[in-house]
Order: sequence, then C-alpha cells, then structure tokens
Amino acid sequence: MSGAADLAGLRVVISAGPTYEDIDPVRFIGNRSSGKMGFALAAAAARRGADTVLVAGPVSLPTPDGVSRHNVRSAAQMHAAVMAALPADIYIGAAAVADFTPRQMSASKIKKRPGSDTLQLELVRTRDVLAEVAAHAVLRPRLVVGFAAETDNVEGYARGKLVNKKLDLIAANRVGVAGSGFECDDNALAVFWDDETRALGPAAKTELAGLLLDLVKERLEAPSRGA
Ligand code: CTP
Repeated sequence: MSGAADLAGLRVVISAGPTYEDIDPVRFIGNRSSGKMGFALAAAAARRGADTVLVAGPVSLPTPDGVSRHNVRSAAQMHAAVMAALPADIYIGAAAVADFTPRQMSASKIKKRPGSDTLQLELVRTRDVLAEVAAHAVLRPRLVVGFAAETDNVEGYARGKLVNKKLDLIAANRVGVAGSGFECDDNALAVFWDDETRALGPAAKTELAGLLLDLVKERLEAPSRGA
C-alpha cells in the first residue's frame, strides 16, 4: 500500500492531456483527453515523495503540489519535452498524443474556395513518444508504462501495444462508453504485463492513480526484473 514517502528517491516523468496539431493560425486537430488521469498520477507520485515531472498538453488543470510542469502543445513538442526530462526511473505515458499531424501548417487562414465543397488535408505520422522512450538504448527508464484507450477488443489491442512498444505495463480503458474514459472523473483500468492482468476500479481517477502507482512500485521491485 501507499506509505507516506514510498517513492522517495525515484524520478517519475508523466505525460498528460491531449496534443493540438495546428492546421492554420486559427484551427487545430485535437482530441478529447481531459488530462485528469495524468495529473492525478503526478499529484499522487509527488505526494509519495517522487521527484515528479509532468509534461502537459493544452489543459487548464492546476499544477499539483510539488510537481515540475512543462506545458506543450503539439506531439513534436511533447516528444522534445519528454526526452529532455529523462533520465528517470519511471515513465508513464498518459497523454493522448496525436498519431498524425498536418504535413505543413498554413501560415495564413485557409479560406473556402468558391465552387469547391471539399478540402484535402495531408497528415503525416508523428513520432511515438512512448515507443521511443521504451526503445532508448541509454535513457530507457527502469519501468515504462503506457495507456491504451480502446473501443473494443481491449485486451488484444492493449497486449499488442505492450509487446510492440516494448513496455513493462499497459493500463487499458474502454472509451466510447458513458461514465468511463475521456472527459470523466471516474475510470476503470485493466492493467496487463507479462501474462498477467489486474483490474483497477471503477473508481475516481484520483483513487485509481494511487492503485496504479502501487502496482508500478510492485513491478519495479519484482525480483524477476533483475533490478
Ligand atoms: N503514444 C505516444 N506517442 C504517440 C502516440 C501514442 O507516446 N505519437 C502513447 C500514448 O501516450 C499511450 C500509448 O502510446 O500511452 C497508446 O496510444 P494509442 O494512441 O492508444 O495507441 P497507438 O499506438 O497510437 O495505436 P492506435 O491508434 O492504433 O490505437
């Protein structure tokens, strides 16, 4: 369980919130991540004594006590800020990072074209922050934790990401159902590692954050990890 300062001496880097990918000076592509889960994790980690860095996408949540916060907007900025925050003992990727960004931001506002009722926008893949952190030869934290927001086949897709992105843990939640996931105060997580599964919640995101950190600490100390 969560003792007073049981994460003292550990550095934890957490990403949170959405990213905004600018199309032109007034428009962007965003998503519905509220940032609440990542902010709750940062608050709990700092309370438990960790040196805690929060890389936050555009949200208006207050900075939790004792947390060092770096605000970013785009996926590219999130990548740079996370990499700059390493080395760390633990990385938790709770942000909903855009998978695609416009190939080029238009310097001026895109106008409607007379006679045309379509607009082509070319998107290119962003860098996968989580996968790059996990694959880093020098800066890989001892424990790398991902999130997966899925509408269906939660375990299958989450385990796929666990393996493909070389993660130690993945916390999955079902989105697209009322009362859980994005834009909610409550959530339920299914956490997968090796061949194991643990269900956390349903509970308030603040409570879930504590439960997930308990599991993170447990996995960090697991003898099979050869730490
Ligand atoms: N993630 C990241 N950088 C990206 C995309 C995702 O760091 N460019 C991280 C998220 O922070 C999260 C995890 O990857 O921890 C899962 O993200 P998700 O978008 O659900 O999965 P994808 O791998 O992008 O797969 P898909 O879109 O096919 O579900």
